[in-house]
Amino acid sequence: MHIVRTVEAFQTEISAVRSKGKTIGFVPTMGALHTGHISLVKRSVAENDFTIVSIFVNPTQFNNLTDLEKYPRNLEADADLLMYAGCDLVFAPSINAIYTEREQNNRFEFDFEGLDSVMEGKFRPEHFNGVVQIISKLFALVQPHKSYFGEKDFQQLAIIHLMTRKMGFETEIIDYPIVREPSGLAMSSRNERLTPAQREIASGISKVLFQSRELAAKISPIELKKWVENEIAQIEGLQLEYFEVVDAHTLQTANNWNGEAVGCIAVFCGVVRLIDNVRYKW
Ligand code: PAF
Repeated sequence: MHIVRTVEAFQTEISAVRSKGKTIGFVPTMGALHTGHISLVKRSVAENDFTIVSIFVNPTQFNNLTDLEKYPRNLEADADLLMYAGCDLVFAPSINAIYTEREQNNRFEFDFEGLDSVMEGKFRPEHFNGVVQIISKLFALVQPHKSYFGEKDFQQLAIIHLMTRKMGFETEIIDYPIVREPSGLAMSSRNERLTPAQREIASGISKVLFQSRELAAKISPIELKKWVENEIAQIEGLQLEYFEVVDAHTLQTANNWNGEAVGCIAVFCGVVRLIDNVRYKW
């Protein structure tokens, strides 16, 4: 497994792979890898001849400087995990290797067709502009046959599908189910910032979501929203930012159970912001 830090070195490696006609699987990450990421990598290894993982903490998708600074970084530990998972090439560029100064300082424009106006997009302005900026850049560079994303970031995944279609990328997007800790807590690099006691508290998020799935058959989406809000409010140490029951495709509020609905939640546990989601009725 090679680790390359510059676009030029990456291009040299990738052209050798392409010239052999190999299929390329791609897993974009921001590092601080956990079992969830490694599951994506293993799936890519199983489905492609050559697997590339990018590790880049993308500054343009952070709207909170502290979150960016505190984001866990550990390239050595990540590289060990990736080697054992069967990854072939790690692309870990610096900010200046990826972005010009102009790109770093100017908002990337994209028509999200409304997918960014709710939930994460509402609470983290510009976040998805940054995500589309980096993923479109990486897709153009890597030109993967398949790209792998976790469903924990449900809204991000919907936006990646839209971006891929609209920008005409030929990569197939593979949605990978949420990987959870034994307690039910959705795996996330941000979990590293939780104390053991907070981890226990944070497991309450998925417990409430799983219970809400049982209730979904009996009450309306609006009643379900109120129920979840109330349950989270009762857990000391958690502070709800939003819970929404939305259509899985448009991400707009679901007023009935006729379509494919998903419940998306963002919660603060201390200063750490966690997201999770659960599917209803599909
Ligand atoms: O989900 C993430 O880790 C990031 O948003 C992504 C897709 C790697 C883009 O920086």
